[in-house]
Amino acid sequence: MLPEQHDILWSFLTMMCTIFALYVFNSIVQICRAKEEVNTTKWGVVFGAFLVVIFVMTVHMFTLVQRDQMFFFFFRQLPVVLLLLLVWGYFFKSEDIESQSEPLIRAGYFFAVVSILLAGYTNWLPQQRSDPPPKGGIELTGEMTMEEFAELGRVIVFGAKQVAGQKAIGKGQCPLCHSFDPGDHMGRCPNLFGVEERSHSRVKEDRYLNSPIKVGEKDQASGIIKGKPEEIPEEYRRSGPYELSGEDYLRESLMCPSCYVVEGFGKAGDTVSPMPIIHKPPISLSRIELNAVVAWMQAKDTPGDFAKVTVPLPSPEDNAAQEEESGGDDGERPVFVTGNEPIEEIINTLGCPLCHKIPGIPGAVGELGPPLYEKVNTPKRLKDPNYKGKAKTAHEYTKESILNPSAYVVFNEEAGEPYPDGVMPQDFGQKLSVQALDKLVDFIANTEPEG
Ligand code: HEC
Ligand code: HEC
Repeated sequence: MLPEQHDILWSFLTMMCTIFALYVFNSIVQICRAKEEVNTTKWGVVFGAFLVVIFVMTVHMFTLVQRDQMFFFFFRQLPVVLLLLLVWGYFFKSEDIESQSEPLIRAGYFFAVVSILLAGYTNWLPQQRSDPPPKGGIELTGEMTMEEFAELGRVIVFGAKQVAGQKAIGKGQCPLCHSFDPGDHMGRCPNLFGVEERSHSRVKEDRYLNSPIKVGEKDQASGIIKGKPEEIPEEYRRSGPYELSGEDYLRESLMCPSCYVVEGFGKAGDTVSPMPIIHKPPISLSRIELNAVVAWMQAKDTPGDFAKVTVPLPSPEDNAAQEEESGGDDGERPVFVTGNEPIEEIINTLGCPLCHKIPGIPGAVGELGPPLYEKVNTPKRLKDPNYKGKAKTAHEYTKESILNPSAYVVFNEEAGEPYPDGVMPQDFGQKLSVQALDKLVDFIANTEPEG
């Protein structure tokens, strides 16, 4: 079994324990009803209590992170289930109910059925989730189909391996900010459901043609000339005809986020996009990767149907070049930092620069979250009467902000409203070793405005 499925295993087992307790409770109640001489209230209370305790434990299991779940299951829940078995046996003995089969045999049957179900369930899982991508990111040999190309895009967006309990995030980092399912809104970034359809109408909007810059003008941040697909850097350019298409809009969204800013999602009166330029550091997608992401965006809302995709497939030479560049296993490992990495690498790996300005980290100019001047900020936060967290020191506050961002939601003085809650990922605790967390906190807690 793959390691990332462990927590599904525990969730499954713990739910089974509750079902088992429910089954026992039900069977006791039936017996009590059938037999006059048995004390229904007494036994009902005893087995009802077991059911409640085991259920509460099951609920608690879902709040635990993966590494604590196994311990909890074996040393907390399982003993309770064993005790339940003992009491169950005692019930039959003390009430002289001979007609029933032995509790142990019944429990044995029950858990055998559970194991078979579990085996079936875990076998079925990998198909549900992503299969690992071809080695080295892209397969060189032969022609790629559009389905494979769009799948490559999906892997760039969500990563090849999903870790249970962690949000799936690939090299493109998009899910840090965007959601993709209808009705799923994360606050400060547009939901990308239906973006293929929108891409065609966007380029015809007045807002597209004139704001924040006009078509034909150059965006300073990215150096891209708006609405001119024939003038984007050569290696990213598609081949004609040069009529502005939905594909061009999507590519431009990634290469020049500030060329068009979705209403309500920008800064400075919707003239500046907080989205990073995807083909520049820190994300730095290559042309093929960027095209793959566009292909995926064009196909994602019509599963199995690639008719809407207009992006060209990479040629075999492209593939060879890409292979050389990507150097192997990009995106195949789940994100995790051990603490042996230099601080800059830790911060870049975790993606903090996409949302935060961080003094001392080149390229950390993100704008979705507050600038990290924690040496100056933390005393203010701790003094704020709205602060309800547990931290007493700058160090503790920084740690709390990283592990549990919602403990306190920072107020954005400039915008006159709080920063959006729920945008900062809540699962950094699972991507960091203890050592890495210490190193990160030490660094962040001492940041202050430069100059
Ligand atoms: C740091 C947060 C952030 C990241 C990371 C990010 N985006 Fe965005 N994105 C935004 C914001 C904010 C907007 C809205 C402002 C704008 O139009 O640029 C946006 C807009 C877009 C749009 C235009 C949507 C529309 O309705 O027209 C597309 C397409 C898009 N992003 C795709 C992506 C993809 C694909 C990735 C990953 C490769 C990505 N984004 C990564 C924040 C982000
Ligand atoms: C997707 C965007 C995003 C990413 C990625 C992100 N943050 Fe945040 N962060 C925010 C937002 C938004 C806030 C403000 C809302 C809040 O307080 O929860 C915030 C708040 C904080 C605060 C509190 C700041 C203060 O002045 O009180 C700290 C510290 C922080 N982030 C550190 C980090 C670190 C370290 C990382 C990387 C490991 C990181 N963040 C990654 C969006 C992000």
